[in-house]
Amino acid sequence: MTRWGILATGHIAARFAEDLRLVPGAELVAVGSRSAETAERFAQRHGVPRAYASWADLAADAEVDVIYVATPHAAHHEAALTCLTAGRPALVEKPFTLDLATSTELIDTARAAGVFLMEAMWMRCNPLIRRVCQLVAEGAIGTLTAVRADFGVAGPFPPDHRMRARQLGGGALLDLGVYPISLAHLLLGAPQHVRSWAKLGPEGTDENTGLIFGYDTGAVATLSCSMVGATGLTASIIGSTGRIDLPEPFFRPDGFTLHRADAEPETVTEELAGSGYQYEAIEVQRCLAAGLTESPLVPHSTTLEIMGLLDDIRAQIGVSYL
Ligand SMILES: NC(=O)c1ccc[n+]([C@@H]2O[C@H](COP(=O)([O-])OP(=O)(O)OC[C@H]3O[C@@H](n4cnc5c(N)ncnc54)[C@H](OP(=O)(O)O)[C@@H]3O)[C@@H](O)[C@H]2O)c1
Repeated sequence: MTRWGILATGHIAARFAEDLRLVPGAELVAVGSRSAETAERFAQRHGVPRAYASWADLAADAEVDVIYVATPHAAHHEAALTCLTAGRPALVEKPFTLDLATSTELIDTARAAGVFLMEAMWMRCNPLIRRVCQLVAEGAIGTLTAVRADFGVAGPFPPDHRMRARQLGGGALLDLGVYPISLAHLLLGAPQHVRSWAKLGPEGTDENTGLIFGYDTGAVATLSCSMVGATGLTASIIGSTGRIDLPEPFFRPDGFTLHRADAEPETVTEELAGSGYQYEAIEVQRCLAAGLTESPLVPHSTTLEIMGLLDDIRAQIGVSYL
C-alpha cells in the first residue's frame, strides 16, 4: 500500500481525496491543515484516520509515504519544503510555486535529500493526452506547425476568492494559463520567443491574457487564459499533414479527433472514471515503487522551464505578487 497524506483541506483537496479511492494500492491515512477544526472536519468527511493541526505534524508522521500539497499557490513552497525537510515525498499542486527561484530551491532541496518531488500537472498523466503525444511522435499529423489552447472562465470571482488575491498569486496566468502553456510545452518544448499582453484587473493581476510562443522550428503556439470570459476550453494540435482536436476540457479530455489529410476524421473516445486526478496518483505510486525521485511524465526540468516562462510572461505583462 502507498499511504497518502493531504496537506490543506480546500476544493481540490476534497476532489483528490475522492479520486484516491479509484487508485489501486492507495490509502489516505492523514490530513494536515492550519487548524485542528478544519483538519478534523475533512477527516470525518473523507474517512481519514489521522488529522493534524499543522503541516509540520503531518510531515513528521513516519507512516505517511507521500503528501499531496493543495494549498493556494503562494503557500506551495513553504508547505512542500516542510514535507521535504522531514524526508517526506511530495506531489505539489500547479503552479508549482510563485516563481522560478522558489521552484528551483524546492527541486534542489529534493534532489539533495534524494526525496521524490513532482508537480501535480495531472494533464500530463492523462491516458488520452499520452495517446495524443504518442500519435504525434509517430508522425500521425506530420511536422508540428502550431498548438492552440484556451482556458478562460467567466467568473465572476467574489472579492475574497484566492483568484482575486494578489498575495496568493491570484489572476488567470498561474491558475489557468499554466494549462495551455503546459500543453504547448508538452508538444513543442520550450519556446525560443515569447510575446504576451494582458488586461490587468483592479488587484494588479492579469484577468485576460494572450500569449504567442515562437519556435526556431517555425512552429507557433497561440494561447490564452481569462478569468473574465469563457473561451471554451479546447485545444488543437496542427501539423503539416493533419490536426488533432481536443474537446473541452482539453486538459482532461474524454476523447479527441484526428484529422488526416485525405481521410475521414477519426474520433477516439474513452470514458474516464472519477475527476481524472487518479492518474497522477498512480504515476506517483509507480515512481515511489521504482525508487525514482522524479517522474518521467512530469520531470523537474519541465516544471522549471514552465516556471521560467511564467516569470518571463509576468515581466512582460507587469504583474508581481509581492
Ligand atoms: N489540478 C486541478 O485541477 C486544480 C483545480 C483547482 C485548484 N488547483 C490548485 O490547487 C491549489 C488550491 O486550490 P483550491 O481551489 O483547492 O483552493 P481553496 O479551495 O481556496 O483551498 C485551499 C486550502 O488551502 C488552505 N489555505 C487557504 N488559504 C491559505 C493561505 N493563505 N496559506 C496557506 N494555506 C491556505 C486552506 O486549507 P486549510 O484551512 O486546511 O489550511 C484552504 O482550504 C491551487 O494552487 C490551485 O492552482 C488545481
